Amino acid sequence: MTETKSEWNSRSAFILAMIGSAVGLGNIWRFPNVLYSNGGGSFMIPYIVSIFLLGISFVLVEYAVGFRFKRSLARILFTISKKLEPVAWFVLFVVFLITTYYVCVVGWDLIYVVLSFTKGWGANPDLYFANNVLHATDSVSGIFTIVPNVLVSIFIIWFIAWFINKRELNNGIGKVSQILLPLLCIMVVAIVGFSLTLPGASIGYTQILTPDWSALGNAEVWLAAFGQIVFSLSLGMAIAMTYASYLPKGSRLVDNAVIVAFSNSGFEVFNSIGIFSILGFMTLTSGIPFNELVTEGSGLAFVVFPQVFNTMGPASYIIGPLFFLCILFAGITSVIALLEGVCYSISEKFLISREKTATAVCIVGFCISIIFATGLGSTILGVFDSYLNNFALLLGILLECVIFGWIYKFDNLIETLNENSNIKVGRLWKIVIKYILPICIFFLWIQGVYNDLNFQDPLSITIRVILTVALIIFPIIFTKLPAKNKHYYDV
Ligand code: PFF
Repeated sequence: MTETKSEWNSRSAFILAMIGSAVGLGNIWRFPNVLYSNGGGSFMIPYIVSIFLLGISFVLVEYAVGFRFKRSLARILFTISKKLEPVAWFVLFVVFLITTYYVCVVGWDLIYVVLSFTKGWGANPDLYFANNVLHATDSVSGIFTIVPNVLVSIFIIWFIAWFINKRELNNGIGKVSQILLPLLCIMVVAIVGFSLTLPGASIGYTQILTPDWSALGNAEVWLAAFGQIVFSLSLGMAIAMTYASYLPKGSRLVDNAVIVAFSNSGFEVFNSIGIFSILGFMTLTSGIPFNELVTEGSGLAFVVFPQVFNTMGPASYIIGPLFFLCILFAGITSVIALLEGVCYSISEKFLISREKTATAVCIVGFCISIIFATGLGSTILGVFDSYLNNFALLLGILLECVIFGWIYKFDNLIETLNENSNIKVGRLWKIVIKYILPICIFFLWIQGVYNDLNFQDPLSITIRVILTVALIIFPIIFTKLPAKNKHYYDV
């Protein structure tokens, strides 16, 4: 097989795929809680600062590197210095492991899409989620019991991801993003529009409009804003770099980065207005204090929202399915993006076709995801999430910052970015990437490591030891395996 390079057939395909990669679970269920717990309206200040300082700045590095080299992350780092290839495989392996549990959460959501048509979660959504969906148990023996519904839904999501990723770029990722993203926007507009008409909506959305200025003096609030941007824009996950490497000559990189970053943030802020309004309605009808409703993650989507739909009347039969479909679409476009960077590095090094790489990666991924379809699955998922996001991924991003800011000839990137863009970058951006960004990420990482240490029970420790060993061994193996592509080692 010879090396063939994919290329986006339109600018909109690239931009929509990029927005699809960014808009995901993090925007829908993580952001409202982060916003609420960090000062409401005043959080917008650190948030906007983070978009520029961290988000757009780092996306620009990824775009410039991907576009300049037109190679995969592993080969780019090898080209910069032979010793750096293991860092690439480390990042890619972290991204792959994140995908294995992200798929599971999207799978839970698929179950809720089906349930939402009949409100199949019954009168007690919290018990239903724990007992009927997860079949959660605290006992370690739970790892030997498979939960069939979750297994099937995980399989379906892996199958969908495989089906999209194996296809040629524009027929797969490009086409799916061009269909799902507009649909997602229409659904979110419908949900937000409806939610604003609900009684009590103002109890919710005024929370966003009521700033707590004292929060701005709190370093944790700033770190929360940085963390949200890292997660939400999928920074450092080889996605932007991979997608930008498929761009044709003459692309306006800086302009594209600004569009993507603002679309992603616009989506999460707009969506939060709907979520807050719906929670305001719940506070009014049930008397449950607002702060008890704004939870994060699966608690918000699979417990609080079903509770809300139970109190909503006939409209909930439309709004419920729309809500869970939004999560499904946002999740799928993120899963395919997470996989693309991983597949590209493997197929480029070992000269394996796109189809075969996607097949192998998805099969292995599905096998790992089976752990999350056991009685102990949700517990293990929590440990994976905490360890990989708080510790491993941030470490990878920190290394990428240092490599591109300090080891690589940085001025080349400025040249690449300014070549065709209307918006230009200069010295300020260089200072941000070389000094400010690594410092911010370092503090975020320290805070992340500290948070991760909350998991101290024997099971979590065992999982973290296994993950750490795997994160050392696999990058070494993938680096040492000889490339089949005879151009791989051309520097
Ligand atoms: N940015 C996407 C989201 O907000 O869900 C995708 C993503 C981010 C996936 C971070 C996984 C992750 F750890």
